Amino acid sequence: MAASIKLFARRILRDFSRNVYVSASGVSTGSTHCRAAQSCRCLSHEAGDRSTHFGFETVLEEEKAKKVYQVFENVAQKYDVMNDAMSLGIHRLWKDVLLHAMNPQPGARLLDVAGGTGDIAFRFLEYIKSQEEKMRRREARAMQTPSWQEISTKYSEEQGAEPQESRAVVCDINKEMLKVGKQKGDSMGITSGLSWVVGDAEELPFGDDEFDIYTIAFGIRNVTHIEQALQEAQRVLKPGGRFMCLEFSKVSNPILSKIYDTYSFQVIPVLGEVIAGDWKSYQYLVESIRRFPDQGDFQTMIEDAGFYCVNYHNLTGGIVALHSGFKL
Ligand SMILES: C[S@@+](CC[C@H](N)C(=O)[O-])C[C@H]1O[C@@H](n2cnc3c(N)ncnc32)[C@H](O)[C@@H]1O
Repeated sequence: MAASIKLFARRILRDFSRNVYVSASGVSTGSTHCRAAQSCRCLSHEAGDRSTHFGFETVLEEEKAKKVYQVFENVAQKYDVMNDAMSLGIHRLWKDVLLHAMNPQPGARLLDVAGGTGDIAFRFLEYIKSQEEKMRRREARAMQTPSWQEISTKYSEEQGAEPQESRAVVCDINKEMLKVGKQKGDSMGITSGLSWVVGDAEELPFGDDEFDIYTIAFGIRNVTHIEQALQEAQRVLKPGGRFMCLEFSKVSNPILSKIYDTYSFQVIPVLGEVIAGDWKSYQYLVESIRRFPDQGDFQTMIEDAGFYCVNYHNLTGGIVALHSGFKL
């Protein structure tokens, strides 16, 4: 009983300290979502000294989060370069496929969890921009010869328009990854429609029913309690909202599987050492991929979390799978 109370108090304190927003002007506190109900729900899976895996190692659950944090803190500066080197640039195509499958429309609100250096959010904003451009062209074609009345109405509508709300939120537990992402966004000239939030996928600092789309790309295998992260995805999505996850998966072709294994275990840690000076983090990466449930099992987990129309598509022979489901 005393232990439960202690855990509860610790969880509330952690909620308070984690709810830190990284805004355009730097880091500021600003969350209003420290909810007791959420804390209570999390208590249900707290159980003293439970163990889990960190790559091929068995560690205490509490240790895993710290170790994962360390990995991404270590690799943050070289994360993007390493992604290109390890995947020979193919991760860009996987992310493009995600965006095309999502096909977001202007006005959509995206939450990209474990969003790291912002690749999904940047693509999302680009995609929306191109959709808006298409709509403008279509409207212009339809209004080839507008009357003065139509021109004046359109002008006053534009003048009176509310400032655009931010439409993509990148949420990640690791401040270093977000900092690198924010610098990247600044250098790309992306200044609006985007916010960076420090937060845990297992206890998202957002209210219920806030987002149209929830994405998590190459992030969910790092989370200690995957079911809890899926519950949170379900909670923050609006009814009708879509859950989409890109994750490394199982290769079924035996020849491709052999080549992929050799590449993963013999080449990736070496690249990690040469490019990022960090063998261990990249060994963890490879091992964590092998520990993640395969396509079918993960589909069942998504269904168990309450999503509907759940399906997946294999990319590059199942090296990666794109999972999708809807909150109804
Ligand atoms: C492999 S990176 C993926 C980054 C990005 N989504 C991409 O596709 O390039 C995994 C990210 O998950 C984040 N992460 C790990 N555990 C997390 C958690 N419990 N909650 C939120 N983010 C987490 C890490 O900090 C890291 O930025």
